[in-house]
Amino acid sequence: LKLLTIIGARPQIIKSAAISRAIKSYYSTKVKEVIVHTGQHYDSQMSAIFFEELQIPLPKYNLQVGSGKHGEQTAKMIMGIEEILEKEKPDFLLVYGDTNSTLAGAIAAAKIHVPIVHVEAGLRSYNKKMPEEVNRILTDHVSTFLFSPTITGMKNLQKEGFNLQSVAPFTVDNPGIFNVGDVMYDNSLFFAQIAAEKIDILHQLNVEKDKYVLVTIHRNNNTDDEIRLNEIFEAILHISKESKIVMPLHPRTLKQIQHLLDKSILDALNHPNILMIPPVSYLEMIQLEENSHIIITDSGGVQKEAYFFSKPCIILRSETEWTEIIESGSGILCDAIKEMIIKTYHLFVNKEKVLFTNIYGAGDAAVNIINILLDSTH
Ligand code: UD1
Ligand code: UDP
Repeated sequence: LKLLTIIGARPQIIKSAAISRAIKSYYSTKVKEVIVHTGQHYDSQMSAIFFEELQIPLPKYNLQVGSGKHGEQTAKMIMGIEEILEKEKPDFLLVYGDTNSTLAGAIAAAKIHVPIVHVEAGLRSYNKKMPEEVNRILTDHVSTFLFSPTITGMKNLQKEGFNLQSVAPFTVDNPGIFNVGDVMYDNSLFFAQIAAEKIDILHQLNVEKDKYVLVTIHRNNNTDDEIRLNEIFEAILHISKESKIVMPLHPRTLKQIQHLLDKSILDALNHPNILMIPPVSYLEMIQLEENSHIIITDSGGVQKEAYFFSKPCIILRSETEWTEIIESGSGILCDAIKEMIIKTYHLFVNKEKVLFTNIYGAGDAAVNIINILLDSTH
């Protein structure tokens, strides 16, 4: 079985580690994986750093598309991926999640009839103004295998007319829909112990366990909207009077705070309680998550990791694809409303530990995916 895997953005590089690791450990004689990096993320802290740390095989191709407007960036990727598909002739094209790299892979493959495997299928925010929502809906509807990480994902697909009871042989007109668990949970289980042994980021940052709030912000509707960005940072400044803040900044956010934040807020961020640092490695990140007191984020992946590590999470969005986290009470949608963020922080400071239940599978999502693909080609 030959898989052509498309990665491009940070979370996809991280997610891909789970399947590449499973192939290496159990299926090296049966499955060959060719990795294509679109180059959507290219700073070493957003890309290169993960390959060695997570033992991901190096991409055979890097399209080096870099940043740009949606159309330009996606078009360059489609052109590059189409050429590689024609040359490599894989059995399947595998894409992760909902970025422009995901959509580009899907469009390129669908048009030349290479079956698409979509990992993280079925997620919906029901907000089509999000570029990610458009990317994931379009990708799901041209895929042959839809691997959902949650029951909610399955229900969302059913609502869109997918037949959850479909049987092999699977085709793009009769896709196979499976709830396999979440590859990010596989990774969290696998790497948490390694992080505990190898990484010492708390010491390096001079912060103590349970005595800091971890913050990440990168969603375009937060970074590119002056009002929202200022509200969020005002809330962070307020919280920093009570707790240290550790904030690994996405390059997009670093750029935008310099343009859009009020000068007084930008100046006030220069405070010993606020550690604004470059993006950290995955092992550093999960160590920071595991030892934090509370997590504030607009990231999809970080919301889930907060849940995996039983941390309360203030979500800087008005809706989420990961609705189970809201239902559990461990995450609260605060949008970009300063008062709501501060109020929820105070609620969480006094709250008992979050209870984690296994709604993201059993840590074997990658193996489930490969087994289903192998079965389907017999
Ligand atoms: C992308 C995904 C988003 C995902 C996020 C993960 C899309 C539409 N969005 O958003 O779903 O949650 O990745 O992090 O695909 N930049 C750099 N260096 C880099 C990468 C980006 O400086 O290595 C800067 C550039 O100014 C660029 C901006 O960040 O214009 C945005 O990058 P882009 O990949 O377009 O979107 P993300 O916000 O990273
Ligand atoms: N992450 C990381 N370093 C950081 C911030 C995040 O390794 O400085 C990891 C995080 O642990 C998670 C993934 O990146 O596994 C989430 O990616 P991101 O927040 O960029 O995108 P999203 O999940 O929102 O698409």
